[in-house]
Amino acid sequence: MKREIITTSDGSVTIYLPEMKETYHSKFGAIQEAYHVFIQNGLTLTQGQPVSILEIGFGTGLNAFISYLESKKSGQEIHYTAIEAFPVATEEVLQLNYVTQLDAKEDDNVFKQMHDADWGKNIPVNDKFMLYKRQQHFEAINDVNTYNLIYFDAFGYHAQPELWSVDIFIKMFSALKTGGVLVTYACRTVIKKAMQEAGFITEKLPGPPGKREMLRAVKP
Ligand SMILES: C[S@@+](CC[C@H](N)C(=O)[O-])C[C@H]1O[C@@H](n2cnc3c(N)ncnc32)[C@H](O)[C@@H]1O
Repeated sequence: MKREIITTSDGSVTIYLPEMKETYHSKFGAIQEAYHVFIQNGLTLTQGQPVSILEIGFGTGLNAFISYLESKKSGQEIHYTAIEAFPVATEEVLQLNYVTQLDAKEDDNVFKQMHDADWGKNIPVNDKFMLYKRQQHFEAINDVNTYNLIYFDAFGYHAQPELWSVDIFIKMFSALKTGGVLVTYACRTVIKKAMQEAGFITEKLPGPPGKREMLRAVKP
């Protein structure tokens, strides 16, 4: 499938898949979206406690990297499990400008390390941040009562509606501990209803620049 690196409105790049008409991040700003959805409306809720995160779609590694930067700043312990069936190629990783855009030159090696990390192994990035990448299809996830927070970052509903189904959200619900939270950039009613059918309590929140709303779901 054809893939292009494009620049989004905040200057950070993303990957565009013309045949699917889909990008890995918002065209209005990849970094802005990642901070707004996953950090401000997700990770921030867990401040001051060790947190176990499940990411649905490791992709470019942007969410993992900014979570690491947050942990470095705050000292929060993070155990980060990222699922990805189709890893981004090294030539593409080299074109991602996140380290520069985030002014994180001293962690250039960490961004590389995250991509080079073996699949299926715990990788201590530092004494606070543990990365575990699993090369797996989302449909095969069977974790139970393991995570405090899920970054649900699959391709959009128009591209992969099957990944926003009740069946997938039941898996997410099982994977979370009680009181655990799932955040996603999406806000369609059909998605909110699928989450609710899986048992989640949902709330709509203001979206990142260029997007009106996003969803947060809690396992009661
Ligand atoms: C929106 S992108 C993820 C963006 C990523 N969080 C980031 O920061 O770059 C969605 C990801 O899901 C992966 N993907 C698509 N279908 C999948 C499936 N059925 N199982 C596992 N991964 C899948 C894609 O390869 C892509 O990396």
